[in-house]
Amino acid sequence: MISKAKGFAYVKADYNYISYYKDGKWDEGHLRPEDTLTISATSTSLHYGQQCFEGLKAYRRKDGKIQLFRVEDNARRFQTSCERMMMPTVSIEKFVDAVKKTVLANAEFVPPYESKHTLYIRPFMIGVGDNLGLRPAPEFIFSIIVSPVATYFDGDAKCVNMGVSDYDRAAPYGTGAVKVGGNYAASMYPQVEARKQGFADCLFLDPKTHTRIEEVGAANFFGITKDGDYITPKSPSILNSITNRSLKYIAQHILGLKVIEEDIYIDQLDHLVEAGACGTAAIITPIGSITYKGHKHVFPASKVMGETTKKLYELLIGIQFGDIKDPNDWITVL
Ligand code: PLP
Ligand code: COI
Repeated sequence: MISKAKGFAYVKADYNYISYYKDGKWDEGHLRPEDTLTISATSTSLHYGQQCFEGLKAYRRKDGKIQLFRVEDNARRFQTSCERMMMPTVSIEKFVDAVKKTVLANAEFVPPYESKHTLYIRPFMIGVGDNLGLRPAPEFIFSIIVSPVATYFDGDAKCVNMGVSDYDRAAPYGTGAVKVGGNYAASMYPQVEARKQGFADCLFLDPKTHTRIEEVGAANFFGITKDGDYITPKSPSILNSITNRSLKYIAQHILGLKVIEEDIYIDQLDHLVEAGACGTAAIITPIGSITYKGHKHVFPASKVMGETTKKLYELLIGIQFGDIKDPNDWITVL
């Protein structure tokens, strides 16, 4: 078996899942081969961005079995996003069951263990049906597509260089904490600008004061301090990353590190010896430098993953691929 992944590009698998919400209830949902949708041109998802999504992965273990990582947490976050977008929620059971069915139907697209590639799972919900005025849609679609993927950022354990966006991805009490398309649409212009300048991506600062680090593109930010502590920012406009939550647990309970959740000022980075981006797609991508207002801050670990980041990375992927015992009921074997 060889991996069908092409970087992080979409590779169509055999089946995707679809369920319709009409007259106040969800239908049973089913698998289907075609990955296209026919919806009304006045759907709220098209005009007003009434939609949300999730991202998680299926991992092939050494023994050939397939497993999911923290799928219930994605289901819970999806509910939060749906509520914020005035969309009906999907029960945890329906979400988990739909993910399991979709992955199993596409089992041959889950890359082999040796490749360290994965099957990316993208559940999403959109508002559909005739609706011109600004109000929640009359109907909704909950769907799941999957694609085999390799790395999100080029370079594996090699450090990437980041810029800093002058723009915001979300407002102080806007939608930054939920996984909705509008945040990502707002982040495309700064991302493209950053790439034109030779950066892998850009950091977003807190939208109120533009002094504190919030997100790294589509991932959370973390650092390792000179004292060896795991540090990550906290704010109402940061997405509550499941990967970051897992790293905080691993740092504290497996590596015995102190975990600090506090502001990280963009012009005060000298206390960090290692920095990284973490998320489902990014996994852990080490950050070698951050360029802010023309000044390039280079971290001591600037070429390859620093020592502590490497330990975190190996523990995280060890658990995700089933090589290390699940410490906390995070794994669902299919
Ligand atoms: N922050 C943003 C803006 C993201 O899009 C993601 C990706 O999902 C993350 C953080 C990481 O979250 P998670 O670890 O749950 O994938
Ligand atoms: C994820 O990490 O799952 C994401 O949603 C990031 C996405 C932009 C690829």
